[in-house]
Amino acid sequence: MKKRVVAVRRLHAEQLARLEREHHVDYFGELDQHTMPAFLEKMQKAHALIGGKLDVDEELLARAEYLEMIATISVGYDNFPVEALTRRGIAMCNTPDVLTETTADTGFALIMTACRRMAELDRWVREGKWQSHVVEAQFGFDVHGKTLGIIGLGRIGAAVARRGALGFNMPVLYSGSSPKPHVEEELGATHCSLEALLTQSDIVCVTVPLSSETHHLLGAQAFKMMKSSAVFINISRGAVVDEPALIHALETGEIRSAGLDVFEQEPLSLDSPLLNMPQIVLAPHIGSATHETRRSMVNLAIDNLLAGLAGQRPPNIVNP
Ligand code: DGY
Repeated sequence: MKKRVVAVRRLHAEQLARLEREHHVDYFGELDQHTMPAFLEKMQKAHALIGGKLDVDEELLARAEYLEMIATISVGYDNFPVEALTRRGIAMCNTPDVLTETTADTGFALIMTACRRMAELDRWVREGKWQSHVVEAQFGFDVHGKTLGIIGLGRIGAAVARRGALGFNMPVLYSGSSPKPHVEEELGATHCSLEALLTQSDIVCVTVPLSSETHHLLGAQAFKMMKSSAVFINISRGAVVDEPALIHALETGEIRSAGLDVFEQEPLSLDSPLLNMPQIVLAPHIGSATHETRRSMVNLAIDNLLAGLAGQRPPNIVNP
């Protein structure tokens, strides 16, 4: 029997067609003040919701009395009330694995751009300031051979570590509750406390998922522990970092630079002091944003959705 699916953002025509062959689909290319009333109305009858950048709260759930499953087009699902979904018997699915390498590429791009001051010097060239040659004050810092600290060595953390260890000859430290012997064996990585990682790393990269345990994991104390030459990279979630503490650390020179793909508030507010720091690199949450990877993420979300609505266990269900 065909069920009712509400789809939001990111789906291509052939992906929508795949859904439509099996179910009735109401698609919203964007959710804004014009489309929101129709979206809320469709949710009252929906059996499944699929999409990217979804905001689901208890109020929406109270309206959606037929909802059986949500398939987010993201690996992170910190923006969903998973306990409430589980209580209501709603399956929650995400899209792991297919974005691992691309998100690690983003992390490494931020490392390279921040350390070699690429964004800053690109602006300098465009502004017509390249009159003779760069002076020492504009030199960057080596990446190869530096100590790379990964906070949270999950799939994405391990992929960043692999780039560092195998491509750039970097000793890798990692923190987290449990040692990962296979990564230690493959990359010569060393498990250590968060404190040891912060004090010893030249580049600190955060890849932990956001949860109540990791909220503001990195605050004033953490930045004080880092080397004054440290470069801080965040490809996880903005709220893992106490952003005012990071801003203070950058303003006062407690750390040298940063490469940030995620922020406590997104889009980044136009009055954020981060915008006035030429030495850091800012990206608009593009961890997984390549054509190939976003397509794979949508396909996986559809696999999850079709399996769930067919009464099978979806491949990537996150609640029991
Ligand atoms: C994810 O998949 O969680 C990325 O951050 C994109 O939203």
